[in-house]
Order: sequence, then structure tokens, then C-alpha cells
Amino acid sequence: MLKSGSTSVTQSSDGQLEAREQLWQAFHNAPLDDAEKERNLGLFIRSASLARMLAVSDLYREIVRLPGSVLDFGTWRGQNAVLCENLRAIFEPFNKQRRIAAFDTFAGYKSHTGDGKVANAHFQDGCYDTGNGYADYLRHLLALHEGINALPQVPGGHQVVEGDIKDTLPQFIELQRNLLVALAFFDMNLEGPTRFALEQILPRCVPGSLLVFFQLQRDFLPGEGYAYVAEILGKVRHEIKRSETYPSLCIVKLL
Ligand SMILES: C[S@@+](CC[C@H](N)C(=O)[O-])C[C@H]1O[C@@H](n2cnc3c(N)ncnc32)[C@H](O)[C@@H]1O
Repeated sequence: MLKSGSTSVTQSSDGQLEAREQLWQAFHNAPLDDAEKERNLGLFIRSASLARMLAVSDLYREIVRLPGSVLDFGTWRGQNAVLCENLRAIFEPFNKQRRIAAFDTFAGYKSHTGDGKVANAHFQDGCYDTGNGYADYLRHLLALHEGINALPQVPGGHQVVEGDIKDTLPQFIELQRNLLVALAFFDMNLEGPTRFALEQILPRCVPGSLLVFFQLQRDFLPGEGYAYVAEILGKVRHEIKRSETYPSLCIVKLL
């Protein structure tokens, strides 16, 4: 049975949800200071969250030998973007040309009519609203991580792009005439914006680049699947596979 959490739909049992609540309580009440908590995240991170990070790490390893940016469509709190800056620091610490751009309205979903219509009651207007000033907070976080990683004095040119991608993405591309894409995450759950982003970036994707969909075959969130069928299947030469660690994540590799 599907249940609605604060920002997500879950297939977990009541017992699992209760255990999750207890884990968050244990995190909140841990006899560790903030520095110890950060260094001991393995005490608290759930297997599902760890699986997701491992999946992103697998993806990053595949693009190390490619030129091009990492684009995160529907970044929400920005975890893919921050994770990729740190994976960059691990796998290619001296490549400061790997730019990361995180896109979101930061006001959650809006105007669920027309081609962006959500066929799901769990995704209402304003769901995933990050509150005032979050884009700046994410910029700050990215800069902090860059400052901790190798070559902090060389700016990486990462960007947090705030607004509906229908407005922001064409401008982003126009301003970067040499933009190449090595890796793009699609996690907006909606057909309209996903199709739009695909149309815009496909001409900039290098051979071997990865297009990653978080919900490609979820029946209750069909938008990404519709966009894949419309824009990629039968139109673009590619391979497709599923993540080994995070089952809902599907990876399209352009040939
Ligand atoms: C499922 S959440 C993303 C979760 C996030 N990728 C993560 O890793 O935790 C979907 C996000 O897509 C964003 N979004 C939906 N439509 C959008 C649009 N047209 N332009 C920009 N962002 C959009 C929402 O604001 C929301 O934050």
C-alpha cells in the first residue's frame, strides 16, 4: 500500500515507518556533538539513503573520462549536487572544469494544469517548497564543500538556478555557448518539465553521457516514463539499465 509522507510516497510498513521515526529521535538525541555526528553518519544513515548515494557514486565514476557538466533537474535540497561536488573531489580532484548546476523552483510544484499535470494526489502545489532563501543556502553549502576540497582557490563555477526550468534553462544554455553535458539527473516527476529539459539538453549531451531518471517505471509517478518514451525511445541511440543499488533509478547512456 502507498502512504504519503511529508514530501514523499512510501511503500514501507507501519513498523518500518515507526522504526524510522525512532532512528530520527536517536539522531536528534544522540550523545554526540555536531562534529562527531557528521563524522559518524554511518551510525544513522538508512540503507535506502546509502543505496542512493552509492548509485550516484557509480554514475559519477562512469563520467570521469568525459567532458561536460552535471545538471540536476529538480534538485530540491540539493543533495545530488553537493554529493557530486564531493565525488568530483574524490574521483577527479584536479578537474575544476566539471561544473555542476542545480535547478529547482525552490517553491515546490506549482500550477498543476496543462502538460505538467500530476496524476497523483500526493503531489500538490507547494509540495517540496524549501522556504525563503534556500537557493542561497545551497550556494553557500556548495561553496563550503569546494572550500574544503582540493584546489579551493580555483572557483568551480557551480550554479544554483532558481525558477521554473521552462524560464531558466533556455537562458542558462544561451549564456554558455560551449555547454556540454556529461550527466543529467531528472527528478521532477512530471512529464512536461522532464520533456522540456530533455529537448533542451539533448543537443549538448556528449556521446557516453548519462541521463538518469529516478522514477522511470513508477506507476504512481508516470511522468518521467512518458517523457522517456516520447523523447528518447526510438529517437536517440542509447543503452538503458537499472541501478544495481537503487532499484527505481534508471540510467540512459547515449551512444
Ligand atoms: C521529487 S523532488 C526532487 C528530489 C531531489 N532530487 C532529491 O534528490 O531529494 C521534485 C522537485 O522538482 C521540482 N520541480 C518540479 N517542476 C519543476 C520545474 N518546472 N522547474 C524546476 N523545478 C521543478 C520541485 O520543486 C521539487 O523540488
